[in-house]
Order: sequence, then C-alpha cells, then structure tokens
Amino acid sequence: MSSENYRFETLALHAGQSVDATQSRGVAVYRTSSYLFKSTQHAANLFALKELGNIYTRLMNPTTDILEQRVTQLEGGAASVALASGTAAIFNAIITLAEAGDEIVSANNLYGGTYTQFDAILPKLGITVKFVDPKDPANFERAITDKTRALFIETIGNPVLDYTDVKAIAEVAHRNGLPLIVDATFTTPYLLRTIDLGADIVINSLTKWLGGHGSGIGGIITDAGRFNWKGGRHPLFTEPDQNYHGLRWAIDLPEPLAPIAFALRVRTVPLRNLGASISPDNSWIFLQGIETLPVRMVRHAENALKVAEHLEQHPEVAWVRYPGLKNDPSYPLASRDLKNGFGGVVVFGVKGGYEAAVKIIDNIKLFSHLANVGDAKSLILHPASTSHSQLSEEQQRHGGLSPDLIRLSIGLEHPDDLIEALDDALQTENTPPRASWLSKLINK
Ligand SMILES: Cc1ncc(COP(=O)(O)O)c(C=O)c1O
Repeated sequence: MSSENYRFETLALHAGQSVDATQSRGVAVYRTSSYLFKSTQHAANLFALKELGNIYTRLMNPTTDILEQRVTQLEGGAASVALASGTAAIFNAIITLAEAGDEIVSANNLYGGTYTQFDAILPKLGITVKFVDPKDPANFERAITDKTRALFIETIGNPVLDYTDVKAIAEVAHRNGLPLIVDATFTTPYLLRTIDLGADIVINSLTKWLGGHGSGIGGIITDAGRFNWKGGRHPLFTEPDQNYHGLRWAIDLPEPLAPIAFALRVRTVPLRNLGASISPDNSWIFLQGIETLPVRMVRHAENALKVAEHLEQHPEVAWVRYPGLKNDPSYPLASRDLKNGFGGVVVFGVKGGYEAAVKIIDNIKLFSHLANVGDAKSLILHPASTSHSQLSEEQQRHGGLSPDLIRLSIGLEHPDDLIEALDDALQTENTPPRASWLSKLINK
C-alpha cells in the first residue's frame, strides 16, 4: 500500500503493513530467533549489506519492521530502529555518534534515568555530557567545543514540563555542524513532528503514550535522514569502521542507503553487538497501541487541561505547571508549536509542601501510584524521591524539580472522576467548602 499521502490517523492504522499471503488483517507476531538463508552467497550478501533481508531477530524481525516503518512515517523520518526500551534507544543513539573523548551538550531538565546515564555512565565510557539550561538556546552554543558530537533535548522536560524550543536549538546545532537529538516521548509525533522543526534524530519511549496501556517496555530511534555526517565532526562516519568491514558510513554506502547511514549504524553496530533488542511480542503490543494514538492523545490532553485548570483554582494548591495553561511560562512557545494539545502530564505543589504531598499520594483514590507516564489509566508519583532520586538536591534544583512536586499522568477516565478524586485527597480540615471556591471556576 502506498501510504505517502495519508493523514496521521490513517497512517497510525495502516503504515508499514502490507497484507501477506495469509490475508491476515491483523499484524502477525513472528516469534523466531533466526531466518533461513537461501544459499551461502545469499547469507554472505546479507552480512555484507549487499542485499537487505532478515538474518537474526536481535537485528531485525518482520513484526518489528512494521513498527519501525509505522513510526518512521508518523514522525516524517527516513528510517527507524526499535530497541528494548526508551533508555536503550537513547544510549544506542549516543554511542552511534560519539566515542571516548567526545562531548554531548544536553538540556538539564531530563527524565531521571537519562540524566543518570549522561551524568554517571557516559563519563565512565569517556563521553562527557555538558548540561545547560535549555530555556536559552544560546546556552547550547556557549557549551559547544571541537569535541561536541550532538545536542540533546526533551520536547517537554520530565518532570517540570518546560517546553523546549526545538526549532531554535536545531538552528544552533546546524550552525555548528551538529545533529540535534530530541526525546519526543512527552509529545509523541501526534502532538509534534520534531523533524519538521529541525530534529535530526528522534527518540520515543514506546512504553509511554505510543503503547498507551502500560503493558510493555520499548523504545525507538527515528533518523530524519538528512544530516550531513561528512561535515568533519563525526569521524565515526567518515573513517573506516572496524566494527563493520571497515565501512566509512557517510562515504561508502550506495545511494538508497546513504541518507539512513545513522539508522544503519545503530542497527549494525550497537544493536547487533550490545544486543538491546525488542521482542516481537512487544513490537506487536506497541503497534496495537499506535492504532489509537491520535484518539487517545486528544483525550489525554483535554483531560489534563481540565485537571490543570481545576487545580489552579484549588485553595490547597500552591502552584501548577501544564504547558496548556494560559499563564504557564511555557504557554507562548508551546502554543506556537503544539497544535493538537499539550500532552497528558500535569505537575503541582500543595500549600503544605512535601509532607502534604506525601499524604496526598498515599491517600488518593483512582490514581495509580507508580513510576510511569502515558498509561490509559491515571498515574501519580513523587519524582524527587523516586524517578529522579539519583540526582543530587542541587541537580534537582537546577532542573527545576522541587521536593513538593507531585506528577500526574492524566489518563482516559472521565475528567470529573479524576477531579473528584483529587479534591478528596486535597481536602484538609481548613479547606473552605467546595461550593465556595468551585463557583469561581464554573463562572470563569
Ligand atoms: C522522557 C522520557 N524518556 C525516556 C524514558 C525512558 O523510557 P523507558 O522506560 O522505555 O526506558 C522515560 C521514562 O520515564 C521518559 O520519561
């Protein structure tokens, strides 16, 4: 099926799948480790990249291939590689373009696991990450040196929810001959196609909204297919690669493969040799989730906005952050770029500070207390003591994470049920009667 002209909703259901000889409407799960070679010549050709085809499920799988093609089309990219987790996707993307002695310049407001990977693990491998405040794109420019190999940002930082100016930071990257890597997990391609704003490499944790039901772990890297790796800053792409037949990835690949040199190197070097592969069953789960992504994202965002607006009026609430709130610091930039909604996460602090926050999380009904986002069900977490607890207090403060912050991932329940559950949990003996402050919101 030629799907080039289909719109997002249609691609989410069809892209990448061509009905096979069995006439199966659903995508088949290929539970196989390996694939038969037709001859020794065929086998040798596959290994030498002279012919493309299946070798081994650590490297590729027909079910995963449909997932990769679908996400590629949704993101508007050239090729994708799915991996075992979003975390593995980030690590594999970085080590595809950087090695010992190199540097990455990254935003400082990241998911805690990514922060730790950058702050504690990459340096042990000789890759230094310089953290900067992404609110001013000039901070990236100032941190770039001859050794820099890429810039890294999240579209909406986890968990403080500052929206990042992807376009401005892409311009800084390209002015300096560098690719921009964007973790787009919090926006998904439905809310934002970062490639249209200049991203060169897009990461999505499939675990979150793309899967959408909290039922599997996976990640995917999408290569926009237009970065010039021959610009002089990426010897891993211009010098013979001892990991792969001495190939110079940016120079030796034949024309149809040349634009996707990055995705090919991810697959044939770190994925092949470090092995963070996704299982075909999980690829199937994520394909199932993606089918309804556009419908779910609209409802996640509508519900999140209703909850954020309600919390804004609540007498026990000290502050609320949601990029869709008109007076949120991120609103001007976010409303410029996000045309389909502002995502499903709301964060807030209560007047009683940390102690009150803990009580709310321990007592709230309906919200599941767990460390995830993007489930169809609503979730609640205290990031400073969980997902971001490996960061020092100072690192948390620099990223804007305060000890009283409560993170809500707003699901697809009826918003009034969510609001009532929050009101019940926020109720203290001093809270004024509900009707007195709710009327303000109703009359707005
Ligand atoms: C923004 C962001 N990126 C990446 C990840 C890591 O994804 P995974 O849990 O699939 O490894 C997370 C997980 O919470 C995340 O929030």
